[in-house]
Amino acid sequence: MSSTLITIERFLLEQQPHSAEGDLTTLFYDIALAAKMIAKQTRRSALLDILGYEKTTNIQGERQRKLDVYADEMIYRMNDHTGRLCAMVSEERDDWIPIPANYKKGKYVLVFDPLDGSSNIDTNVTIGTIFGIFRALDLNNRGRLEDCLRSGKELVAAGYIIYGTSTMFVYSAGQGVHGFTLDPEIGEFLLTHENMRFPEKPTYYSMNYGAYSYWDPGVQAFGDWLQTAQETPLSARYIGSLVGDFHRNLLYGGIYGYPAEKKYSNGKIRLLYEAGPMAFLAEQAGGYGSDGYGSLLEIKPKTIHQRTQVFLGNREIVQKAEEFIRKTNLSK
Ligand code: AHG
Ligand code: MN
Ligand code: MN
Repeated sequence: MSSTLITIERFLLEQQPHSAEGDLTTLFYDIALAAKMIAKQTRRSALLDILGYEKTTNIQGERQRKLDVYADEMIYRMNDHTGRLCAMVSEERDDWIPIPANYKKGKYVLVFDPLDGSSNIDTNVTIGTIFGIFRALDLNNRGRLEDCLRSGKELVAAGYIIYGTSTMFVYSAGQGVHGFTLDPEIGEFLLTHENMRFPEKPTYYSMNYGAYSYWDPGVQAFGDWLQTAQETPLSARYIGSLVGDFHRNLLYGGIYGYPAEKKYSNGKIRLLYEAGPMAFLAEQAGGYGSDGYGSLLEIKPKTIHQRTQVFLGNREIVQKAEEFIRKTNLSK
């Protein structure tokens, strides 16, 4: 645990000068400020009657929760006018988001899932925000769809905020993964988890075995191995929030999987603003992110809401999933 008071901005400026180009540091500040606003609302959502559903459904065909819309609005309004971005993509909006013509455009693209784990909002279970940052392909224009359709290996930085028993901001700018805990008394995220890495020994597995009968045979074989063939049995933890499951598995070792299934033939998790950023973090923490066939970071999205199968966590377990899928497909 860190003993000195280091904020995100100081950490970037002092310890990661290469990535502390002015705009990136201030972009992190803007995201952290939006996160503090979202954290405030999640802590009091029942009191503010922002639980429950809007009348709208989003492009995902999911009914929007009031907190989904609030979080989306907060991140958008914190970033549309700052001159740091040339485009945004949000899970809650149909198309990519240009910067309004009356505002200066910047050199970064921000992709985000404003509220991850929405099904947990009314149940007081951990939820999160996921973000990824790309550099614009061509600084001479005001941002285009092709600036947004990028593979995870092109990410400049990625991170998540986890709204749990405490609020944490976890990010990587390509030099390891670092965690900052919000001190609500002073409104600052302070460094508490420097250089987060998956422990050698896994402890948890996070997959929804309720969908087992819909999984491909190779994934079922992997799921059986995960449950029955471990020297030290792993514990099952699946809370319906990728950020919550990923964070616990990063701290204690393990794997999160959302396999393709009947309802989601390509998997449920969105490649651009969920799987890519989380795979970037996984690799920066010594782990791995795969779609079951290869690295998630290598997949270039064709559309902004493209979904994918994901396995995220300790490298050797994720590679085991690939092995079972490969072996079963070969035997077909
Ligand atoms: P979101 O709330 O942004 O739609 O994402 C939820 C995702 C992920 O966070 C979670 O692990 C998974 O959906 C849960 O899906 P099921 O409810 O189908 O298990
Ligand atoms: Mn999500
Ligand atoms: Mn979401």
